[in-house]
This record gives sequence, structure tokens and C-alpha cells, in this order.
Amino acid sequence: MDYDRLKERYSKFLSKRDERRELVSFWDGDLPSKDLICLEAGMPNEKLFPIKAIDLHLVDQPFDDGDGDKVSITRYEQPAEMPIARAFQYSEVRGMLPMVSFCKRIVEMTNRPVYDNWDVLLSNGSSDSMFKVFETLCDESSTVLMEEFTFSPVVSNVTSTGASCVPLKMHLTTDPRDQGIDVEYMEQLLDNWHELEEYKRLNKPKLLYTIVTGQNPTGMTLSMQKRQQIYRLAQKHDLIIVEDDPYGYLTFPPYDPENPMKNVYTDTENPMSIDEYLQKRLIKSFLTLDTDARVIRLETFSKMYAPGLRLSFIVANKFIIDRLLNLSEITTRAPSGASQAIVYATVKAMAARETAYQDEQDRMFYGWIRWAMKLAGTYTHRRNVAFKALYETDAYKSHLFSVLEPSAGMFINVKINWPHAPPDDMRRSLDQLDTVLVKNGVKVVLGYKLAVDQSFSIDSSGFLRFTVAYASHDEQLIEGCHRIGNGIQEFLGY
Ligand SMILES: Cc1ncc(COP(=O)(O)O)c(C=O)c1O
Repeated sequence: MDYDRLKERYSKFLSKRDERRELVSFWDGDLPSKDLICLEAGMPNEKLFPIKAIDLHLVDQPFDDGDGDKVSITRYEQPAEMPIARAFQYSEVRGMLPMVSFCKRIVEMTNRPVYDNWDVLLSNGSSDSMFKVFETLCDESSTVLMEEFTFSPVVSNVTSTGASCVPLKMHLTTDPRDQGIDVEYMEQLLDNWHELEEYKRLNKPKLLYTIVTGQNPTGMTLSMQKRQQIYRLAQKHDLIIVEDDPYGYLTFPPYDPENPMKNVYTDTENPMSIDEYLQKRLIKSFLTLDTDARVIRLETFSKMYAPGLRLSFIVANKFIIDRLLNLSEITTRAPSGASQAIVYATVKAMAARETAYQDEQDRMFYGWIRWAMKLAGTYTHRRNVAFKALYETDAYKSHLFSVLEPSAGMFINVKINWPHAPPDDMRRSLDQLDTVLVKNGVKVVLGYKLAVDQSFSIDSSGFLRFTVAYASHDEQLIEGCHRIGNGIQEFLGY
């Protein structure tokens, strides 16, 4: 699909604010070259920076405190493509080219889109990506579909543009074929939109926002079959799909109660190969189905490297990327050069070990994926530890709660099995349970706080979400899970 066709097809999705958004620039954006004495832009010479080098001390494994590789970022030499003089200077708003190329390589190797005219834009965390996407595509006339439970700040991103959020029913189940968005519900909703009394003041949805793998907060992952069905619905009803995927690389196989600490990532006899991870463990993005260029994918370095970097990237068709770039140009400008240099130098160091590959881009990709597998292995271990600890509590053995086993990510859902009917006032009951849990020394998130529309989801919001990500060691996680069990038992009066 050529650029003009993309423009023709996707201009109608743009917000009114986007039409008015134009950069007033005094600068043509050329960076200094050897022959040009550049005295125009207010760029401090690199020797005015208070540092001349940064040393990075890498770890070999998560939780490893030993001495791993050491790599420096220097004023002019290292990394050659992104030394301090370059990375700490004002830089390209879309991201520095070596980082853009690296992100593109990740997309090509894991989720190559089925059309050619796509691109990547770096941004300041997926929170920033989401803000920019909704700013660009939404205004008062827009309606956005999303999972009934979601990463709640996104609701504010949407509503701050004047747009409305409409929740989609989810199947909260451990069955991998059935997890996540209730596709039949979505189909009925879209097919009958104009007859629906409850939504009669809203325009037909033009966007679907979905957290596709290891969903926050439910841990659900959309099966490939569901992705295909949803993509077909998006085609039929002309929706843009915004696929937020911070957890897609953190996948784990089903928990085995007979062998609770089994971990396919660290199995010394039969360790998982990179190919197996890429081909079998990672679930393909909507991008791989996207014949119409209607998918916007959000990836972030927050969970794969560190949240404080505020570094992420957006994949979309070139026309939409240009509109998002335009917004970046007048708001955040380039993502942090320091963060880009740190990630880039780290990945280059990881690449140095991948001697089996000829091409430097391949070495970087596989070096990075090897790190992703180490993280996935650590999360699998933590999932195992948490499940074992939950399943050994008296509360679990007395059926006071069940666990919605996730197949990816960092969140675990504990569903309360209310002894009689669900409480009339779910909010109040969960708040009371929370007080008991805090008294027992554990803090979790209450299901209703993550509902897009609390009254819509009241019956299914009787759950607690906790993360396995933050505990300092296994014992802390085990103790936290035991406290959850004790708190539930105390609250339900047993
Ligand atoms: C679904 C989802 N999207 C986005 C984010 C934010 O990511 P970032 O740190 O890249 O802004 C989170 C963080 O928890 C999340 O769960």
C-alpha cells in the first residue's frame, strides 16, 4: 500500500486537534557535518557536558551480582554510532537511527508485518505512546473499545481527549483458547451498535485498545484464533487496533502441580533453544495478520530493561507514524538520548557473545532475545514459587479462592470464591478485604479499581491482582502469598 493510499485510508481516523497541529520551526534539522560550521541551533558543545564517559556494569543473569561484562560510553568513540557527543546532544525526534534500526529488527524477526509500508517511532515509554496515539486519533466524537479490565491510566488517556471508553466482556478462564476478549460479545456489540440503547449517544467505535499477552490486570493472553477473529471484526467494522504488548516476551508454559518448580527455560538437560522460544513460545502480534495496515503496536523497554529509562517504540503504517512524529515534534521531542545510548551499548555488549552469527544486526537481535529468555525464565520461576505458595494455603484448600493461571506476564489473579452469592456491594466488600490483607501485611490491587466501567463489570471484579515482579527473593514472595491466603481466610470468617 503506497503512502498516498495510506493517507487516503487513514486520514479519517485523525482527531481535529491533529489537523491543527503544525510545527513552527526555525531550524531545518540538519546535524553538524565536517564541512558545515554550525552556529544556528542552541546545542551546547559536548565538552560543556559535565561528564566525559559512563561505565556500564552488566549482569549475566537477573539477580546476578557477580562481575559481568563492562562497557563504556565515551565522549567520541563508544559506541561508535552513539557516543556521548551524539547521544547526549539534541537528536532525531523519531529516535537515533541505530536504535530505530534495532527496534525495526526486533519487529522483523518476531512479528514481521504483512505489508511493507510500516515504520517505527521511539517514544518515552508506552504510557507516552498511548497518550500520543489517543491524542492523534481521538476527540469528542470517538469511541474506543477496550477490555473490561485494563491498565487503568489508559482510560484517562482516552477520556482526556473527550472520547468515550466502552468495555468489552472478557472470558476470565485458564483455558488458553478461550481467554480474554469475548469475541461473540464484541461481534454482537458492533453488529447491533445503532440499536443499542445504552450506547445510543456514542458514535460507532473506531478503535480497539487491547493488551494482547499476559494482560494487565487479568493475565489473559488472546489465542491466535481469537486474534484472527478480532482482526476480521476490525476489518468488517473498520477499526484501528492498538495492541499494547509490554509482557509478550515473558511467556511461560502451563504450571505443573506434579512438578511445581519445573522450568523449561532453565532445564539443564533439555534447555529451550532460541528458535523454540521465537517460534513456539512467543505469540504472534496482530501485525502479522495486518493486511490493511490498521494495527498500531506498542512495545516498551520498561519490563525488558528498566522502567526508569522511559524508552519504548511504536510500530504502525508510515502515515500514522508521521502523524505521531508530528505530535512528538511539538511535545516531547526526541526520547532521552542517555536512555537510547544505554540500551544500545548494552545490546552491543550482548551481541559480542553471539559469535555464531555473521551479521552485527543479527548478533544484536539474538543477544537481546537471549536476555529476554533469561527474564522469561525468571518470571516462570517466580510464577512457580507463587502458585506453589498459594496452593498450599488453607484458604485455597478450603476453596475460598481460585487462581486464574496466566501464561505470560507478571500478574496473578486471585479470584475470591464468595461462600454464598457475590456481595451486593462488591466495592465495599473488596475494600474490607483489603483492610484485612494490609493488617496481615500484604498489599495487592482490587479488581474493581481496574474496571473500565465498575457497574458493567461488578460481578466479575471480585478478584485481587498481585505481581511476582517486585519481591526481593523467593521467601518474600512465598510469605506474601501466604499472607494473601491468611487474609482471605480471616475475612471470609473461617
Ligand atoms: C498494559 C500496560 N501498558 C503500558 C504500561 C506502561 O509502560 P511504560 O513504562 O512503557 O510507560 C504498563 C505498565 O505497567 C502496562 O501494564
